[in-house]
Amino acid sequence: MTAMKDSAQANLENLYRIFTVPEAPESTLGSIDQAITDNLAGFLQEHIVAVERDLDEIEADFTRTDIPEQPSFVSDYTEFVKQKLVAQSVHTASPGFVGHMTSAMPYFMLPLSRIMIALNQNLVKVETSKAFTPLERQVLAMLNRLVYNRDDAFYQRWIHDSQSALGAFCSGGTIANITALWTARNRLCGPDGDFQGIAQQGLFAALKHLDCEGLVVLASRRAHYSLGKAVDLLGIGRDNLIAVDTDDNSRIDMRQLRNHCSRVQSEGKRIMALVGIAGTTETGNVDPLEEMADLAEELGCHFHVDAAWGGPTLFSDTHRWRLRGIERADSVTIDAHKQLYVPMGAGMVLFKDPAALSAIEHHAAYILRHGSKDLGSHTLEGSRPGKALLVHAGLSIIGRRGYELLIDQGITRAQTFADRVSTHPDFELVTAPELNILTYRYNPSWLQSVMAQAPLDKVKEINLILDQITQIIQKEQREAGKTFVSRTRLEPARYHGETITVFRVVLANPLTTDEILGAVLREQCELAQQEGLQERFEALRTLAASCRVERVAL
Ligand SMILES: Cc1ncc(COP(=O)(O)O)c(C=O)c1O
Repeated sequence: MTAMKDSAQANLENLYRIFTVPEAPESTLGSIDQAITDNLAGFLQEHIVAVERDLDEIEADFTRTDIPEQPSFVSDYTEFVKQKLVAQSVHTASPGFVGHMTSAMPYFMLPLSRIMIALNQNLVKVETSKAFTPLERQVLAMLNRLVYNRDDAFYQRWIHDSQSALGAFCSGGTIANITALWTARNRLCGPDGDFQGIAQQGLFAALKHLDCEGLVVLASRRAHYSLGKAVDLLGIGRDNLIAVDTDDNSRIDMRQLRNHCSRVQSEGKRIMALVGIAGTTETGNVDPLEEMADLAEELGCHFHVDAAWGGPTLFSDTHRWRLRGIERADSVTIDAHKQLYVPMGAGMVLFKDPAALSAIEHHAAYILRHGSKDLGSHTLEGSRPGKALLVHAGLSIIGRRGYELLIDQGITRAQTFADRVSTHPDFELVTAPELNILTYRYNPSWLQSVMAQAPLDKVKEINLILDQITQIIQKEQREAGKTFVSRTRLEPARYHGETITVFRVVLANPLTTDEILGAVLREQCELAQQEGLQERFEALRTLAASCRVERVAL
């Protein structure tokens, strides 16, 4: 009995140690920790995806579902992390990883993240965050100013006002877009006479009160899928998110947008919001925001701009004009974990009207009291970390000029790469970069000339084979692990709206060089020469020959 008691006491003491005694520097954890701190890039270079393993195989390391009964050594666990997790994660910071929106991070984000974690503040209320609350409000005001550029007096008046907010900080673009549309919905269906508002009485009562058949949100078909989640969650319904066609440059077609607006109004529905995109996820294009703002004004509806990707273009004196009209938006989404170079899990939605967020305000007796400065009263999420510190750090250390350089460099590099692709005999540029994203595919020039004159049915057949080739090259390039581009499906006008598969390149990593991009193309050319693809190229040659014969016969 006493022995059992002793061992229970020892276990308890060991448990306390986990919370109080840091690992010895020479332990596995200590050495990994040190290696990461001293040389993050080198450590990751050495440990991340050295050898490609199938996900099925990796899953085998993560199949135990029983919670370990006994405590284990932190060092043992760290060894597991090193071998099974770090070694099989993706080197998103690699300069050759140009397929997605995650890229390199400034080195100072790591030590500052540790401070953030060590402090473990909860931004839901002042009682658990103190100085972090005004810091977050300051960050929101800084980005609000980047978008809306109001004067000092405006920001002094609203920055720390307990009754209002210049925006809401959240975990990313999805939550930011949901928050924007939630606010738009509640403002449109706010309390009015006997009607206590949608927040209180729900959608059915709101529609009855507005005497309409439904609420509608319109955005281009290139809009991010988070808008679909938003209309689903808000009870508006995915059918009432109208995907409007785009012009040849993936920008919303204003004529079609107007037609859709007239149609839904004639069906007795109410237009809740227009959503413009500043940097589409797949092609990086910017909608005609000024014209959309005019239309939203005409319709009297909310105008939201999803600038999750392209928002930081506003830092650039050279390229800011591309987002002209954004300052007329009622709300704007900006992701900090994209082009503000902050670690994953930081986004923001900014509002033109500091009172707008009161439409979703929530109060609770034990926290979030009326008149308190608790940020949780107008955020979708409850407990939130002090991530605003990292955005503040980026803005303070990199500064407007630094971000401007990063933006300018990305756009220039994308243009240079696009020139290289379009003059290369084996590639076809599909969408030219407006910002720093472009798409292209492997399509030898001899085949491109045939396609330019081929009948539609033959073009379709050729595209089907090219789709397979693109898919195989992309997959094998990813598996080889040296460089990485992503792939998507687009409907370029030159192929009469037929959907084709393309490579997608995102150029936001400042460490990516033109040489590395040259290597991406070289690797793709080599992959195209492989044995396994020759049958498909043979089929393309046969199709091309049949097109020529048909032309001669005509
Ligand atoms: C334009 C746009 N909006 C919204 C999002 C969603 O952002 P998150 O993944 O941070 O939720 C993305 C993500 O890629 C995006 O590109």
